[in-house]
Amino acid sequence: MSRELLVTNALPYANGAIHLGHLVGYIQADIWVRYQRMLGRTVHYICADDTHGTPVMLSAEAAGITPEQLIERMHREHARDFAGFHVQFDNYHTTHSPENKTLVEQIYRQLRAKDLIATRTIEQFYDPVKEMFLPDRFIKGECPKCGAQDQYGDSCEVCGATYAPTDLKNPYSTVSRATPIRKTSEHFFFKLTACAQYLREWTGAAGRLQPEALNKMKEWLGEPGEEKLADWDISRDAPYFGFEIPDAPGKYFYVWLDAPVGYLASFRQYCERRGMDFDAFLRSPDTEMVHFIGKDILYFHALFWPAVLHSAGMKVPAAVWANGFLTVNGAKMSKSRGTFITAKSYLDLGLNPEWLRYYYAARLGASMEDIDLNLGDFVARVNSDLVGKYVNIASRTAGFINTMFAGRLANELPVVDPGPYLHPSPFHGLVTRPGFNPRDIFDRFKNEGIAIAQAYQDRDFAHAMRLAMWLADIANRYIDDRKPWMLAKDKASRRELHGVCSVALNLFRLLTIYLKPVLPVLAKNVETLLQIPNLRWEDDKSLLLDHHISSYKHLLTRIDPKQITAMTEANKQTLSPPPTISGPASTPTTSPGAKAASAAAAAPAGPATIGIEDFAKIDLRIARIVEADHVEGADKLLRFKLDLGPLGTRQVFAGIKSAYDPQSLVGKLVVAVANLAPRKMRFGESQGMVVAASGEGPGIFLLSPDAGAEPGMKVK
Ligand code: MSP
Ligand code: ZN
Repeated sequence: MSRELLVTNALPYANGAIHLGHLVGYIQADIWVRYQRMLGRTVHYICADDTHGTPVMLSAEAAGITPEQLIERMHREHARDFAGFHVQFDNYHTTHSPENKTLVEQIYRQLRAKDLIATRTIEQFYDPVKEMFLPDRFIKGECPKCGAQDQYGDSCEVCGATYAPTDLKNPYSTVSRATPIRKTSEHFFFKLTACAQYLREWTGAAGRLQPEALNKMKEWLGEPGEEKLADWDISRDAPYFGFEIPDAPGKYFYVWLDAPVGYLASFRQYCERRGMDFDAFLRSPDTEMVHFIGKDILYFHALFWPAVLHSAGMKVPAAVWANGFLTVNGAKMSKSRGTFITAKSYLDLGLNPEWLRYYYAARLGASMEDIDLNLGDFVARVNSDLVGKYVNIASRTAGFINTMFAGRLANELPVVDPGPYLHPSPFHGLVTRPGFNPRDIFDRFKNEGIAIAQAYQDRDFAHAMRLAMWLADIANRYIDDRKPWMLAKDKASRRELHGVCSVALNLFRLLTIYLKPVLPVLAKNVETLLQIPNLRWEDDKSLLLDHHISSYKHLLTRIDPKQITAMTEANKQTLSPPPTISGPASTPTTSPGAKAASAAAAAPAGPATIGIEDFAKIDLRIARIVEADHVEGADKLLRFKLDLGPLGTRQVFAGIKSAYDPQSLVGKLVVAVANLAPRKMRFGESQGMVVAASGEGPGIFLLSPDAGAEPGMKVK
């Protein structure tokens, strides 16, 4: 791929802060772009804010500002956060721009001229108080299956049922609380159905999509003749924050039509600033457009986007590559656990962005698999790999060059011991044990560079990092063997010491080339140390001898686990408003979550006090589990038959499947709430509840009484 590249990242929505989940894809693309540039390729790296749509309009209204003011503020914050993680776009624009408006209209006119726009009347939910059509996510109601309240229009969080918004019982608008009515209006559709054949061709080109994405495409497109696609509704009615459709007053382009066009609009603004010819770039067969996205938006990028571009006679994407989703400590990011971590909080607490860049790189393969940020592993991995292995090479040797050799590397290699022997390597079977012949080690470092380059190109950064750390191990073993700290004690070993430290720093130089896409700032400091202006992939990799270096300065600190605790504390949010505390000694508490310091100082928030008569309302009983089974179709639930002694038996569902094997529970005594009103669930009626403990971390723990307790006994 020697072509000029336009690389993009998905445009983040302008109604929320950048969090560590977002950063997976941005860091991934930034690493890839930096790697391409180290090879000398021309890359234009482009992004923008995605500003249009109902959520932005309503968020602005709720904040008492105009949408323009909101998106302006978010734009500043997003640009700041990306810069903070060294994600270095060439241009960061907005979809609410004149360039975007012109391009969207131009594309729309092309589609219309080709008879690819249809109009159709459809019926939707409408908020009669707010006087607007309601996107599904702004409608809630009772689950049609289990009757749980306040459920969204697509699925029930309580019983897991999926359905259409029209199936909700007693639906209400979350905007005004009014009961929505059904109302018709005319919509514009892009005839996606006419593009199925083209999309099959586009999908077929090599390297365009990952294998998992190809499977999805097969599913969405179906076989030729089997038409699975539907036309795409690209219009929305006023009031809407977006671009009005030409010749259609009161109708706006749906945000997902103008959002990807924002890639081109941002690129156009950049071209104008740099005096580049935007149209010529797009026309040229020697340029390629590559999109990095998250897996949730593949549908928009691999179906609508190429279909629209192709239909409008424009350059189509050369590749669309999707990253998996981030989990933290093995679970979905959670505001209550403090694992919904914003980019800003990470940086504000003084955590080094390159720690995260390295950790993500070490976890990211080329697939769409989800990646986990395990916070304990994060600390261990960064400290052992980056500080303990990589930086250690320089910190153990550069000082000797500075103090004992006037900052100059040796002009010859150290004496070589004969007799290399074999040891197993995790990657290449048996290899010569390094440690004795610097030439061998150096060649190994050079050869491995080829494999690392390939891994970067293929976006298999995890493999690249494994290889790099293996090399770091070799370099450290060489230093361990030669023991420069011992050599330094003996005047007769001066030349040997000089040679060994010079070899180590040469290895460190190659390793820094290999890690530079991931660690741009650290690499820059190494360039200063080694007095090399700009390490590039194709640099002459022969030994650097008789070369002057700067004095060694500390390159990287370890992560202190306390910093991680402070970060999760700072991101903790209580989901319900803090309770009012009654009683004589009530003092106002600071709201938790804002700042680590204040959160730590604030008294732990607990529920308000109650009288004994309130407690007595809860009929807690000892119960014996007589049956315990999995529930088909439920991810979290187990079904129990409980024996409550004189109170008879009850069926109870409990969300503890993740923690217990049902068979191991049969016969066990637990504590149950006996007077909880029965609730109908999708799987049957739940006639009570078993109590269990849980904390911030994973795990759910059933309570059980001491020996001697009997089913039916009261707990008080
Ligand atoms: N605005 C759309 C994209 C329009 S592109 C023309 C959007 N915005 S987003 O803010 O929700 O997400 C921005 C990017 O971050 C997307 O690629 C999305 O997939 C990704 N991620 C959002 N949450 C994520 C995780 N928890 N984990 C990994 N990536 C995540 O989608
Ligand atoms: Zn339900």
